[in-house]
Amino acid sequence: MEDIQKKLGIIGRSKEIRDLVDIILQVAPSDITVLIYGESGVGKEVFAHALHMVSKRAQKEMLSLNCGAIPESLLESELFGHTKGSFTGAIESRKGYFELADNATLFLDEIGEMPLSTQVKFLRVLETKEFMKIGAEKTTRVDVRIIAATNKNLQDLVDEKKFREDLYFRLKAVALEIPPLRKRRQDIEEFALHFASLYCKNNQRPPVEFATDAMNLLYEYPWPGNVRELKNAVETAIALSRNGLLTADSFRNLLRIDGRAPAKNLPVRLNKSSDEVERDFIYRALFELKKDILELKEMVSNLTVNNGQFGDFHMSMANDDRDDLNVDKVEKELILKALQKAGGNKRKAAMYLNISERTLYRKLEKLGFEDFDAK
Ligand SMILES: Nc1ncnc2c1ncn2[C@@H]1O[C@H](COP(=O)(O)OP(=O)(O)OP(=O)(O)O)[C@@H](O)[C@H]1O
Ligand SMILES: [Mg+2]
Repeated sequence: MEDIQKKLGIIGRSKEIRDLVDIILQVAPSDITVLIYGESGVGKEVFAHALHMVSKRAQKEMLSLNCGAIPESLLESELFGHTKGSFTGAIESRKGYFELADNATLFLDEIGEMPLSTQVKFLRVLETKEFMKIGAEKTTRVDVRIIAATNKNLQDLVDEKKFREDLYFRLKAVALEIPPLRKRRQDIEEFALHFASLYCKNNQRPPVEFATDAMNLLYEYPWPGNVRELKNAVETAIALSRNGLLTADSFRNLLRIDGRAPAKNLPVRLNKSSDEVERDFIYRALFELKKDILELKEMVSNLTVNNGQFGDFHMSMANDDRDDLNVDKVEKELILKALQKAGGNKRKAAMYLNISERTLYRKLEKLGFEDFDAK
């Protein structure tokens, strides 16, 4: 059992986590729809992926779609696909996620954000395994395992008439609740040590140690951002540390202690601060800057490696041609390259561009590319 958990990359020895792994192993072999709920950053996607990996669909990739990141007008076409000419701009016929995920798993994140009109159609797919592409005259049949996730209380949404009750009943038949980190504090130490060693390994840094007061602070802290916040705090503390020993002080400025926002987002009052705080501030600014540069570098090299076309773009920049320096044009080129590299997967493309998926959709709409299909 512990072996499987390790293989799945799930950290945590609390009873809560072990029970969740048990449920996953139990429900994985069937095709039953699973709803995962829990606060932001608790590990919903981790568990969704684990469930897929122990299912018979594991040899195919799990597809993910964030219902909250996509404009309502585009969500149905993303989910169900469309035929050529079915609406203005539908130049080509296109497969939706249900079809792309045939024989695999589709992870629908932020399901609470799905518009009511789409919920009706979604429920029909769950019940019949069939759907109509937009503009099509006959139905398409698929074999897809659905995992849905939400950090909203769906019952509240049902009460507010924002979520269909019939769909809610259907989804909650197998529901996995991932408790917040503050309710399974015994996992904190393991998470901290795991994220620290991973970060040091990936960044070629010597291992770090946690002083007792640091572990105590991490143990006591309520972690409103859950595991994601812990991971970020550990990584930033290591990046700012100078001697490989993390103390409570290494974390104090990074956490929302006493209801304050983390120091990173606060204007730093240099007049009041000691040399130490001032130095930390400079280190932190440098760290953020270095992160930005590394991300930019990676983006540029990804695009270059991908198809060599970026070289032309680079050249044209050097030519100082006014048209090629046009921000909109450059942005459009970058977006297209990112989409090509991501094989048309907008979530991945948004990641390459380091913008949110919603922003990417907004930009695509602005460029008249809402129907873009990467070749
Ligand atoms: N049990 C776990 N084992 C290993 N890593 C975990 C675990 N839980 C969470 N993480 C890590 O914490 C981070 C957040 O997890 P994840 O993205 O799955 O959260 P989420 O619940 O989907 O968050 P959101 O609601 O914001 O989408 C990720 O880096 C993930 O790898
Ligand atoms: Mg998630």
